[in-house]
Amino acid sequence: MQNFNYSIPTKVAFGEGTLENLPKFVKEYGKKVLIVYGGGSIKRTGLYDKVVALLKENDIAYEELSGVEPNPRVTTVEKGVAICREKGIDVVLPIGGGSTIDCAKGIAAAYYYDGPAWDIVLNNSLVTNALPIITILTLAATGSEMDYFAVISNEEEKEKLDINSDLIYPKYSILDPTLTYSVPAYQTASGTADMMSHIFEVYFNGVKDTFFQDRIMEALLKTCIKYGPIAVKEPDNYDARANLMWTSSWAINGFIACGKSGAWPCHAIEHQLSAYYDVTHGHGLAIITPYVMKYTLNDKTVDMYVTYGINVFGIDPSLDRYEIANQAIEKTTQVFRDMGLKLTLRDIGITDKTYFEEMAVKAARGCEGSFVELTKDDIVEIFNQAF
Ligand code: NZQ
Ligand code: ZN
Repeated sequence: MQNFNYSIPTKVAFGEGTLENLPKFVKEYGKKVLIVYGGGSIKRTGLYDKVVALLKENDIAYEELSGVEPNPRVTTVEKGVAICREKGIDVVLPIGGGSTIDCAKGIAAAYYYDGPAWDIVLNNSLVTNALPIITILTLAATGSEMDYFAVISNEEEKEKLDINSDLIYPKYSILDPTLTYSVPAYQTASGTADMMSHIFEVYFNGVKDTFFQDRIMEALLKTCIKYGPIAVKEPDNYDARANLMWTSSWAINGFIACGKSGAWPCHAIEHQLSAYYDVTHGHGLAIITPYVMKYTLNDKTVDMYVTYGINVFGIDPSLDRYEIANQAIEKTTQVFRDMGLKLTLRDIGITDKTYFEEMAVKAARGCEGSFVELTKDDIVEIFNQAF
């Protein structure tokens, strides 16, 4: 096990009705918030009205930034920074999924940087401070509610990169599973695939002698596999939504990666799909992951896939090792299929291979240090197989 520093500073209020804590949380940090939200789901569900009423009742002033895109753009981050500076914002309050929260994190950090916001994405050491962030999560997927990443897209440059800084951990996150009842089946499935991938990236990174972390990850994976399909079919099943919500946070908040850190190849590859084709992040991962698993299955990795197959899917341990590994990969694909996700690039409307080489060059940078080395040519081949 590697050495590590452990600190997950975000305070969480979890469960139905925990929205009530919002005024108390805000008042710890100031009197004026910037509400950040996406395309309007929070207005349709009535959450926006509830939040605004709570703020007004408690004499908390607010400004708004709406229209944050899935795969949030740096141009939207800049709009938010301008509002914060002009209106004297104390706290950034994203209400939504990962895109909204990431945009808010970008705003909070870029507020203190005197230059284009994209600079701090390209060079994370330029993040020297951040406004306090309090999140209200409405979609279980990215774990942004409890981590220190913000993934920002630059349309002009066709780049999707992350800010990675301890300073952008949310101060508080309100996790009420009932706020995810309205998440459509497609986003529920994509979100589940995303959290599974966050676990896979660590589980399969080749760092050895992490028995404790590996067993926890298997429990998290089993939770996704059990409850993802249930939430897709029964959107207002509290237990399913609650288990998924808590798993999304723990899949990426740093805990499972303590002593087991490494590269995240599937994410590096998927981020190119989002950057070039605006693919939904979790869906892109559901397509890419089984192909990466197959491509990296060899004598060096087979035992990891065997452990996964036996411990997570209960595959018969007396079978041949490669048989177990292949079954485990097929069962993983089946989980995504059962949740209604299409599983080739062509099926999601990518009909030409024009950008594969260019995308692979960028992805290869993010794959550096992977357990199984993936070069540009390997990644082109993975795109071709997933086509
Ligand atoms: O924009 P609105 O109208 O709110 O609708 C959203 C959006 O269309 C909708 N939605 C969210 N909550 C809802 C809802 N619809 C109905 N009811 C609700 N309760 O869902 C759609 C997708 O939302 P989005 O925030 O884009 O999804 P997600 O949470 O999957 O976030 C994806 C982004 O996060 C990044 C991804 O790359 C992508 O840009 N990631 C962030 C990470 C992090 N910060 O740690 C790590 C991840 O690996 C990932 O890269
Ligand atoms: Zn992800």
